[in-house]
Amino acid sequence: MSIETKLPAGADLRAEIDRLRKERNAVILAHYYQRPELQDLADFVGDSLELSRKAADTNAEVIAFCGVKFMADTAKILSPDKIVVLPDMDAGCSLEDSCPPQKFKAFREAHPDHIALTYINCSTEVKALSDVIVTSSSAETILSQIPKDQPIIFGPDRHLGGYLNRKFGREMLLWPGVCIVHEAFSERELLKLKAQYPSAPVAAHPECPPHIIDHADYVGSTSGILNFAKTMPDALLIVATEPHIIHQMEKALPDKTFVGAPGADGNCNCNICPYMALNTLEKLYTALRDLEPRIEIEEGLRLRAKKSLDRMLEMASGTIGLGDLGRVS
Ligand code: 13P
Ligand code: SF4
Repeated sequence: MSIETKLPAGADLRAEIDRLRKERNAVILAHYYQRPELQDLADFVGDSLELSRKAADTNAEVIAFCGVKFMADTAKILSPDKIVVLPDMDAGCSLEDSCPPQKFKAFREAHPDHIALTYINCSTEVKALSDVIVTSSSAETILSQIPKDQPIIFGPDRHLGGYLNRKFGREMLLWPGVCIVHEAFSERELLKLKAQYPSAPVAAHPECPPHIIDHADYVGSTSGILNFAKTMPDALLIVATEPHIIHQMEKALPDKTFVGAPGADGNCNCNICPYMALNTLEKLYTALRDLEPRIEIEEGLRLRAKKSLDRMLEMASGTIGLGDLGRVS
């Protein structure tokens, strides 16, 4: 039986989600990589840092998180008194999968003089083993506050870590994880696209490998790419990140054209995040109706993970001094 058939007779799915949102005092948060229909229904659409801030600040009793599990976990870590639901609990992340906590712990123990600067795309256990969390929009601000002589391990995204190393002249030790979505962009296909639109700038997410970043005019987080699109004088932009962000660009900038960078087969469908795509309107409806699947985190683990996330929120807004920086894990 499909989910729709469980709706009250004659009811509309979007109207039912709206009714439940009010009835539950729920806020719907969505990442830019979600399906357009989920972005359009959300109370707030943003990047990983903005969504973390919203989750920490909301007065709602329920957070319905349209994103992937590490994002919903982060919402629960920062807002433990809220009910946090994720429409599909299998919405994981290849970066999180690449970094099992026991292996990460061993890596840390092998480098006792290093602090762990860790990308938010990781499990709660790995956050608990880290000193400072970063997102792609806060990584540069945070890294620039860490003294040059402080040894650092950076995980789990080796491309974001490598990009930061090159940009800041650092030598952070890199965990060997990758995002399967950004890894799939093809340099050969990108060059063909650039030849087709020679004056168009390229905007790339720092999860892309260096052979894509090398062709980018702008490198930044999803919100950074969106801002670049708003401020660039050009009429066409080549976008090297998950293509669902183009929905927000087209809404905000209807007179500009956005072309997704292709994958190896020349078809940019292989750059759709298969984890983000698991969330649907139907699953959001049942999540609000049943308040399941629900994120639960053991309190001791939550408190350990919260330390490194709090550090991120403080350092991202420049409210922590350099002298305050030491290992927390
Ligand atoms: P940002 O939205 O922080 O740029 O992150 C991108 C991403 O890969 C989320 O999974
Ligand atoms: Fe993870 Fe990549 Fe999907 Fe983001 S786009 S959730 S980094 S697999």
